[in-house]
Amino acid sequence: MGAKVIVSLLFLFLIFGSNADAANKRIRNRRPCKRLVFFFHDVLYNGNNAKNATSAIIGAPAWANQTILAGQSHFGDLVVFDDPITLDNNLHSKPVGRAQGFYIYDKKDIFTAWLGFSFVFNSTQHTGSLNFAGADPLMNKTRDISVIGGTGDFFMARGVATLMTDSFEGEVYFRLRTDIKLYECW
Ligand SMILES: *[C@@H]1O[C@H](CO)[C@@H](O)[C@H](O)[C@H]1NC(C)=O
Ligand SMILES: *[C@@H]1O[C@H](CO)[C@@H](O)[C@H](O)[C@H]1NC(C)=O
Ligand SMILES: *[C@@H]1O[C@H](CO)[C@@H](O)[C@H](O)[C@H]1NC(C)=O
Ligand SMILES: *[C@@H]1O[C@H](CO)[C@@H](O)[C@H](O)[C@H]1NC(C)=O
Repeated sequence: MGAKVIVSLLFLFLIFGSNADAANKRIRNRRPCKRLVFFFHDVLYNGNNAKNATSAIIGAPAWANQTILAGQSHFGDLVVFDDPITLDNNLHSKPVGRAQGFYIYDKKDIFTAWLGFSFVFNSTQHTGSLNFAGADPLMNKTRDISVIGGTGDFFMARGVATLMTDSFEGEVYFRLRTDIKLYECW
């Protein structure tokens, strides 16, 4: 009888002990293996800056046009961009790469967008790319999007990027601070 109890206790200990181990491992793994901060700068076409604009409305709902962002929180606008990425918040700093992709305004009653883009690096610091996707409730001070993969220096990378609007000038310029935390590094 006593032996049975001991065996049962041992068994329970093994079950819960190993669960605790797994939990500890998960928490340990939540520390990023790499952290990088960049800024990228979006200059939207406003009807007379075709030379300098780094983004353009390429799709608009039937009630709007491709020159001016649509009313109702820009709902339905699809914007493509090729934005310089810098290490500090200065638009005129030497870029370390380009942020290339699109955002779609996808809600009528508040400003919110869906982002799909890549950071394409070609500098002495980094070569390769990081790919991002996710919902961007852009009125929130910070919001997280997924880092879904990478190439080159970022081969197979995955993680989360915290976006913060660092500057916003009307509907012509905004700057996003991108705090990248990778949880999978090779
Ligand atoms: C385009 O950028 C250049 C260099 O920053 C600036 O001198 C010029 O005023 C800009 N042009 C427009 C139309 O914004
Ligand atoms: C685009 O829409 C805006 C706002 O409705 C309007 O002021 C502008 O004239 C339109 N531009 C073109 C090229 O249709
Ligand atoms: C990367 O930069 C080098 C040196 O500036 C340039 O020769 C090369 O064409 C660039 N590659 C890409 C893919 O932009
Ligand atoms: C964004 O902000 C709203 C209102 O403050 C909040 O309810 C929501 O949870 C936030 N969303 C995210 C993804 O942080």
